[in-house]
Amino acid sequence: ALKACLFDLDGVIVDTAIYHFKAWRRLANELGFDFTEHQNEQLKGVSRMESLELILQWGGVTLSDEEKQQWAARKNEWYLAYVNQMTPQEVLPGVRDFLDSLRKAGIGIALGSASKNARLILERIDMLDAFDAIIDGTHTTKSKPDPEVFLLGAQALHQNPADCVVFEDAVAGIEAAHRGGMKAVGVGSPEVLTEADVVITAFTETSLTKLSDELLGWQ
Ligand code: G6P
Ligand code: MG
Repeated sequence: ALKACLFDLDGVIVDTAIYHFKAWRRLANELGFDFTEHQNEQLKGVSRMESLELILQWGGVTLSDEEKQQWAARKNEWYLAYVNQMTPQEVLPGVRDFLDSLRKAGIGIALGSASKNARLILERIDMLDAFDAIIDGTHTTKSKPDPEVFLLGAQALHQNPADCVVFEDAVAGIEAAHRGGMKAVGVGSPEVLTEADVVITAFTETSLTKLSDELLGWQ
């Protein structure tokens, strides 16, 4: 039965994915190359340092560990400049209503994000109180597609993975949910999120009843 919902942050609750893309692209450009939005899909859900490694590979750029730390710090500064402009209006359509309906139904709510900036973002959009548990990049040692972040979330909510549903916009996040023994709802494009149990393009097009009916259908 559906006991808990675990939410990715970037691209699910708010569209920070676009800010990550802009900041990473600036880094690439300053290093003398570029990458596409298609390549950017591979960065979703992937930690800061692992994202940097991938981007450097794309550009064929080799850096020392120290230089990598410096570029990652720079990228984060550019990213935070966007984050600091964020307002509660940026919460994606339907998200607040959906979380309200979960709360009313007594379903556990956790955040499962790779971001070390998650709490700051939740503060900016006034959603720190919306979650019963917040697991972010400061708690995890392994990145998605490893299920660690979601398993920690289920644990914090005292629920079995089989009773949990993950909401994810990243291919790596869908895989993480499944590897953790959880259902996965893709948020985004069905062409990209082919492994998801079900895909929604926005929370406005679903409801708890609709989802649990679909969930029951999966059992
Ligand atoms: C999320 C995003 C990734 C980002 C990662 C780390 O998973 O989807 O694009 O790289 O968090 O974020 P951070 O804010 O710690 O750099
Ligand atoms: Mg995401």
